Amino acid sequence: MNYVTLNNGVKMPILGYGVYQVTPEECERCVLDAIEAGYRSIDTAQAYQNEEGVGNAIEKCGIPREELFITTKVWISNAGFEKAKASIEESLRKLKTDYIDLLLIHQPFGDYYGTYRAMEEAYKEGKIKAIGVSNFYPDRLIDICQFTEITPAVNQVETHPFNQQAQAHEIMEKYKVQHESWGPFAEGRKDMFTNPVISEIAAKYNKSVAQVILRYLTQNNVVVIPKSTHKERMIENISVFDFELTEEDKKAIKSLDEAESAFFSHYDPQTVEFLTGLGK
Ligand SMILES: NC(=O)c1ccc[n+]([C@@H]2O[C@H](COP(=O)([O-])OP(=O)(O)OC[C@H]3O[C@@H](n4cnc5c(N)ncnc54)[C@H](OP(=O)(O)O)[C@@H]3O)[C@@H](O)[C@H]2O)c1
Repeated sequence: MNYVTLNNGVKMPILGYGVYQVTPEECERCVLDAIEAGYRSIDTAQAYQNEEGVGNAIEKCGIPREELFITTKVWISNAGFEKAKASIEESLRKLKTDYIDLLLIHQPFGDYYGTYRAMEEAYKEGKIKAIGVSNFYPDRLIDICQFTEITPAVNQVETHPFNQQAQAHEIMEKYKVQHESWGPFAEGRKDMFTNPVISEIAAKYNKSVAQVILRYLTQNNVVVIPKSTHKERMIENISVFDFELTEEDKKAIKSLDEAESAFFSHYDPQTVEFLTGLGK
């Protein structure tokens, strides 16, 4: 496994396993399968309602806790200092651990400054090894970097071949915030898995489209957390460090960038109304 070093010196695997849309019933089995396949980094969130499944797997997997890297995220309904503080305790309980490796603010809405202060406090108490944000596009990221004591270590944003976040990546580098991708395959949207440009590159290396995408992102210093409930795909998705894309390959994949979300825009008033509504 390759690692990135975060701005506070913490080492994070560059490739992990995400559990969004993994049901609470399936989560423990999936995370145990992922750990057996070699994953050490697991990405969950309060909103996924499967932190307990992750916690059960942490308890049962037989891997020392310090070899695992657990991420969770504070949801909008827990925004604000007091609520966020209580939710951190709840996440620790559900995850069956006395520390979280990385805690992110899930969405930049509601009293997220209050949330961040609670995260800073828990960080200083040693309950969290690194704190960061998610879905903070350049305007909000710069703002939070300017007005907080601890610079976010990570920003997790939608990133895949059709939405590569070139400008956001530059800003993250400038502020020493590690870029992490969510949705590396855009959940298969826009026929990602049969894209002709990526398929041609994949054939050259005898790899799959999924593997080429993960290699591309990690070669660009982007942390990835692909999700699959199938063990054979988990194994496929982690087997990406035995080949290297050339500059020409990278240029071809770069040309696929539409610089637009395959899901929804955080600047769309309807989306913002929907998300802020969840916090009320
Ligand atoms: N911070 C945020 O707001 C946010 C938002 C979304 C996601 N995330 C995080 O990012 C993680 C990854 O994103 P995501 O789950 O949305 O989507 P994704 O990883 O881009 O795509 C997952 C989809 O691809 C399929 N798949 C996985 N590996 C495959 C392979 N090798 N070949 C063919 N199909 C494959 C999966 O199907 P099967 O499961 O059936 O194999 C699933 O339908 C999440 O799990 C979550 O941890 C964060």
